[in-house]
Amino acid sequence: MGAHLLFLLLSLFSLALATVAGAGIGAGESTFQYLKLPLLHNRPFPSQILSSDSTRLISLHRRRAQLPVTSGSASGTGQYFVEFHLGTPPQRLLLVADTGSDLVWVTCSACRNCSERVPHSAFLARHSASFAPVHCYDEKCKLVPHPRRVACNHTRLHSPCRYEYFYSDGSVTSGFFATETTAFNASSGLPVRFKNVKFGCGFRASGPSITGPSFNGAQGVLGLGRGPISLATQLGRRFGNKFSYCLMDYTLAPTPRSYLVIGDSQGGGATNGSRMSFTPLIHNSVSPTFYYIGIESVNIEDTKLPISPSVWAIDELGNGGTVMDSGTTLTFLAQPAYTRIVNEFKRRVKLPQPAELTPGFDLCINVSGLPNPNPNLPKITFRFAGGSVFAPPTGNYFLDTAPDVKCLALQPVASPAAFSVIGNLMQQGFTFEFDRDQSLLGFSRHGCSQP
Ligand SMILES: *[C@@H]1O[C@H](CO)[C@@H](O)[C@H](O)[C@H]1NC(C)=O
Ligand SMILES: *[C@@H]1O[C@H](CO)[C@@H](O)[C@H](O)[C@H]1NC(C)=O
Ligand SMILES: *[C@@H]1O[C@H](CO)[C@@H](O)[C@H](O)[C@H]1NC(C)=O
Ligand SMILES: *[C@@H]1O[C@H](CO)[C@@H](O)[C@H](O)[C@H]1NC(C)=O
Ligand SMILES: *[C@@H]1O[C@H](CO)[C@@H](O)[C@H](O)[C@H]1NC(C)=O
Repeated sequence: MGAHLLFLLLSLFSLALATVAGAGIGAGESTFQYLKLPLLHNRPFPSQILSSDSTRLISLHRRRAQLPVTSGSASGTGQYFVEFHLGTPPQRLLLVADTGSDLVWVTCSACRNCSERVPHSAFLARHSASFAPVHCYDEKCKLVPHPRRVACNHTRLHSPCRYEYFYSDGSVTSGFFATETTAFNASSGLPVRFKNVKFGCGFRASGPSITGPSFNGAQGVLGLGRGPISLATQLGRRFGNKFSYCLMDYTLAPTPRSYLVIGDSQGGGATNGSRMSFTPLIHNSVSPTFYYIGIESVNIEDTKLPISPSVWAIDELGNGGTVMDSGTTLTFLAQPAYTRIVNEFKRRVKLPQPAELTPGFDLCINVSGLPNPNPNLPKITFRFAGGSVFAPPTGNYFLDTAPDVKCLALQPVASPAAFSVIGNLMQQGFTFEFDRDQSLLGFSRHGCSQP
C-alpha cells in the first residue's frame, strides 16, 4: 500500500515538474530516463528510392560550395516517420526522422488573417497558446540560414525571423523560426512537455525530397543531426546527449515496430550495453550536421578488398568521409570502393541474371528458377575505425526490385568531393546508439525487439 502511495506521489511530482517546469526535467530523471517515439514506415517502390536518393546525393558538391549552413536531406521514400506532438493543446504531426539534417520543421500556418491560409498546412499556430515566433533581432535567429534580401528591422515589434533551409538535392523550405511546447510519452508512461523548442513554421517547401508523392504525406522533418537546432541537440542535454533507434525490416509481415529513443537506451532496456560495438563519431567542421564514421576496410566473405584508406578519408577541404544517415535509403560508396565491391560480388554470384537490366543497379539476379528463392549470397562486412565489425545480413543490401528479382542495393558516389552514406536499408535490424557526448556510435544486433 505504502509503496503504491509513494509511487503515485512520485509520479505526480515528476509529472508536475515536467509539465510546469519543462526545462527542469533533470530533477525527475530517475522516473523517466528516456523518451520513446514509435517509428513508422511507408514501404516504397524501389524505383522511387533510386530516383529520390540519387537526386539527394548528386548535388552534394554544389551544396557545399554555395550554402553557408549545411544540411542533409530528407529524401522522401524508404523513410521512417515519427509522431511528433507540438503546441498547447498538442497537435499531432508525422515527420521524417532524419539524422542527416538539423532543422525541425512542420508545414504551418501562422497568419493572423487566415484568408491566405497555407494549403495543407499541418500545424495551426493560432490554435496553440504556446506558439511564439522568434524575433529577427533575437540571438536565436542566428541559428538558421536566412533568405537573401530580408533585412531585420529591430525596432518593429513584429518582425519574424525568416529562414530558408536547403537540402542537398536543392529542395528548400522556408518560413518563420519559432518556439513551441512539445509533448512526449516518457518511458515511465507519463506525459512530459518541453517548452521553448525551436522549430521552423514552414510556409513553403519545394523540391523533390520534401514535397509531392516522394515525401509520402509527411508533414515536416525531424532533424536529428549534430548541429545546435536539431531535436537531438535541443532535448539531448536532458537525456545524456544520446539517442538511438532500431529500424526494423519493413518487408516482414506484420511489420515490426521500430522506435526512436531519446536518452539512454541501455537504461531503457533497449540493448545490453556489454554486447554493443563502438566506433568513433568523427567531426567535420565543413559539415557539422553529419554523423561521420570511419571505414577501415571492407570484406566480402573472407576476402579483404584492396581499397586504399584514402578512399574513405575526409580530406583537408572536408570532402569525402562516410555518413550514417537515416534519411537516405540506399548505401552510397565512393566510386573506387564501389567498383571493387561490385566486381567482387559479380565474381562470386553465379546465379541467373534477369532478362532485362534493372535501371540503376549493376548486379541483379533472377531467383524464380532457383530451388531456394532466398539463395545464399556473399556477405559483406565493414571494419570500422577502432576495429569494430559491422556485418549486416544480406537482406540489408540485396533489395527485391521486382517479383523474383534481387539487386545489390549499393550506389556509386561519382563526385570525389561527395561523401559515402550508410543508408537506412543497410542499418535495418541493428540498434544504433548515437552517443554525442562521448562521440561514439554504438551498434548491436540485439535489443531491437525489446519493448
Ligand atoms: C486579409 O486578407 C485579405 C485578402 O488577402 C486582404 O484583402 C485584407 O486586407 C487582409 N486584412 C488584414 C487586416 O491584413
Ligand atoms: C522599422 O520599423 C519602424 C516601426 O515600424 C519604422 O518606423 C521604420 O521606418 C522601419 N525602418 C526600416 C528601415 O524599414
Ligand atoms: C501517448 O500515448 C497514448 C496512448 O498510446 C497516445 O494516444 C498519445 O497520442 C501519446 N501521446 C504522445 C504525446 O505521444
Ligand atoms: C548482457 O550480456 C552479457 C554478455 O553477453 C551477459 O553476460 C549478461 O547476462 C547480459 N545481461 C543482460 C541483462 O541481459
Ligand atoms: C527469370 O527466369 C525465369 C526462368 O527460370 C523466366 O521465366 C523469367 O522470365 C525470368 N525473369 C526475369 C525478370 O528475367
